[in-house]
Amino acid sequence: MQFSYSNYYKNPKQNNAMHEVADVLFPEGHTERAYESILKWPAYTPTNLISLDDFAGITGVANVLYKDESTRLGLGSFKALGGAYAVQRVLEDREAAGDDSPLTVCTATDGNHGRSVSWGAQQKGISCHIYIHAGVSEGRAESLAEYGATVHRVEGNYDDSIAVCIKEAEANGWQIVSDTSWEGYQEIPTQVMAGYTVLAAEVIEQLGGNNTTQPTHIILQAGCGGMAGALIAYFWKHWRNELPTVIVMESAMSDCVYESMQRDQIVLVDIVDETLMAGLSCGEVSALAWPILRYATSHVLTVGDEGVEPMMRLLANPESERPAIEGGECSASGLIALKTMADHPELAESAGIGADSVVLVIGTEGATDPEVYRLIVG
Ligand SMILES: Cc1ncc(COP(=O)(O)O)c(C=O)c1O
Repeated sequence: MQFSYSNYYKNPKQNNAMHEVADVLFPEGHTERAYESILKWPAYTPTNLISLDDFAGITGVANVLYKDESTRLGLGSFKALGGAYAVQRVLEDREAAGDDSPLTVCTATDGNHGRSVSWGAQQKGISCHIYIHAGVSEGRAESLAEYGATVHRVEGNYDDSIAVCIKEAEANGWQIVSDTSWEGYQEIPTQVMAGYTVLAAEVIEQLGGNNTTQPTHIILQAGCGGMAGALIAYFWKHWRNELPTVIVMESAMSDCVYESMQRDQIVLVDIVDETLMAGLSCGEVSALAWPILRYATSHVLTVGDEGVEPMMRLLANPESERPAIEGGECSASGLIALKTMADHPELAESAGIGADSVVLVIGTEGATDPEVYRLIVG
């Protein structure tokens, strides 16, 4: 089966000499503090980096390294690192300022970020309100309530749920803990992103430290781009001019990075249809991620949903000795992008993907909606 794609963009602004924008996002000490804090969490353990030799064979590359976030902190996605860490930081900063007034946190989410915030809030004994949009599945809504949060369903798409969350936060004096940022709201999303960098630190460690085994390509799926921005920033601080080629993959139904790259400014995309890859359904690039994506991304690829189910099944049913992997809808992203590029030689050539390539992909979630997973994978 050949995969098709919607749009492809080669970014003329990509420039490794711009790596200092990563130091602007994360000044000295930021990611180190996140790493030291999260390592102390009782549930913490690094997730596996797995070689998908069967998939490397299918796509004709030397190796595909898959970071498996399905086991992350018992929450089933990399998002567990960000929201919960930001909640902890809000509390620490208030404590340092001598503020002991009662705290309530809130956020908009399409599932995984909200789970992280509500889990973090529950552990600290604080109230939490979560705003979900009309397209979020009932299974995801239930998993949010599991951690004691009050869940509010809002009409419209993800961006509408953010607008309601902001309004309610202002009316009630709640603290927003969002994974995306906007003008005037950046400190907390920076902490969320700092939490995500623990994933990147683990990858570097698993690759064997300094430049011993370096991927040639990194494929990152984007919703608001918070994950991509955070991981690239960490990798850029580590590899500087030697940053592997970065390919950002998006759903064509929420292609805000693609549209923003084309116009060289942040563009709000109106999401009309919801992709199966629910976590990628976001209409606007995070302001914090933008400078990183703008200068680090080599290529952007946007695709429909056709590859999601076959790639989830492939992860679950290895065609080699590698372990079976529980990969949710968003975890198919990197595989879809690589397979699409291998299926279209002009794309592979443009991105320099070939027989010597070592491609890092991020399996960002497990069966975060168990019912959808069961229907697809069986
Ligand atoms: C499983 C999963 N993968 C990828 C993403 C994309 O992350 P970001 O919105 O930071 O780009 C999300 C976002 O919710 C997600 O839940």
